[in-house]
Amino acid sequence: MGMLEVKHLNIAFGTKKTPTKVVCDVSLTVERGEIVGLVGESGSGKTLTALAVMGLLPKSAHLISGTGKLDGVDLLTLTPHQMQKIQGSRIGIVFQDPFTSLNPTMNLGEQVSEVLRLHRNMSRSEARAETLELFKSVHIPDPEIRMRQYPHQVSGGQRQRVLIAMAFACRPELLIADEPTTALDVTVQAQVLALLQEMQQKLNTGVLLITHDLGVVASVCNRVLVMVNGRVVESGGVEEIMTAPKHPYTQALLAAVNNPVHLSPTNETVNNNGREMDNCCVYADRCPICVNDPCRMIEPELRELGEGHEVRCHLAT
Ligand SMILES: Nc1ncnc2c1ncn2[C@@H]1O[C@H](COP(=O)(O)OP(=O)(O)OP(=O)(O)O)[C@@H](O)[C@H]1O
Ligand code: SF4
Ligand SMILES: [Mg+2]
Repeated sequence: MGMLEVKHLNIAFGTKKTPTKVVCDVSLTVERGEIVGLVGESGSGKTLTALAVMGLLPKSAHLISGTGKLDGVDLLTLTPHQMQKIQGSRIGIVFQDPFTSLNPTMNLGEQVSEVLRLHRNMSRSEARAETLELFKSVHIPDPEIRMRQYPHQVSGGQRQRVLIAMAFACRPELLIADEPTTALDVTVQAQVLALLQEMQQKLNTGVLLITHDLGVVASVCNRVLVMVNGRVVESGGVEEIMTAPKHPYTQALLAAVNNPVHLSPTNETVNNNGREMDNCCVYADRCPICVNDPCRMIEPELRELGEGHEVRCHLAT
């Protein structure tokens, strides 16, 4: 059993009568100490999958069905109060934009201290001392000075380090990171990613890492799931997916990384978000090897094509 176990998650927007499904039958697991990548084009349902697990779905979203268990406890059935407790202590969160995730009116040290006082019951002075240790462990230079500064006074990379310190402050078992390096300069991206991995290894945290960047996946993830139009179309060990992808979408994604002249399929404007694609493969309109029968007749199921390697394609072998 995985530490985090999401099963058959279905999420829709719209009215009950005419729902638009945006997450369709997504299942995934994250074990302690592993980093699982969730990749896919814009709008494929990555963030909503993570938000559901954290109990943070927007009010307009309908959770149609599914479970999301953390060590056997279904997170999707918790009250907001129960969820808040787990969020601060057992699940850490890092979002894309460190600026909007920080409070502009509080200095950086106070923001981390507050988390420690709230979730680890520390006194003011204990929390201050621990915050200093945390700032050191995420390699923030001149930590005493930085603790007294406000978000706008430090760089984006430093802000993301503070958020990572905050996310790991309660030594969470699970960290959910949604595009944690996307908003940063390329050189800073690598440093922040390395930091995330360092903290994850030190604390043996399980990480669900959302990214559109296969380079990120290749460098830190153990396993990866690839999403198209709300569905997982391929999943498996990183080495296997990076060297022998079996779904045409994953293949196109990799080709674009290896040869940037090709338009990355993540940037394509044609996708079927929101379009109901019953009885048809969701990738059919873009697939170079699509055949009418069965691709446009039957939606493919996920099939296991090797140990731990699943593919949602009729023609994959
Ligand atoms: N609040 C909302 N109201 C209506 N539709 C929404 C809302 N939030 C997301 N969606 C739709 O749900 C789908 C999945 O969105 P989601 O944010 O999970 O995608 P994503 O894979 O995280 O994309 P990105 O890479 O751009 O972050 C998209 O088609 C999006 O338009
Ligand atoms: S099922 Fe058919 S259309 Fe879909 S990815 Fe496979 S070959 Fe392409
Ligand atoms: Mg997203």
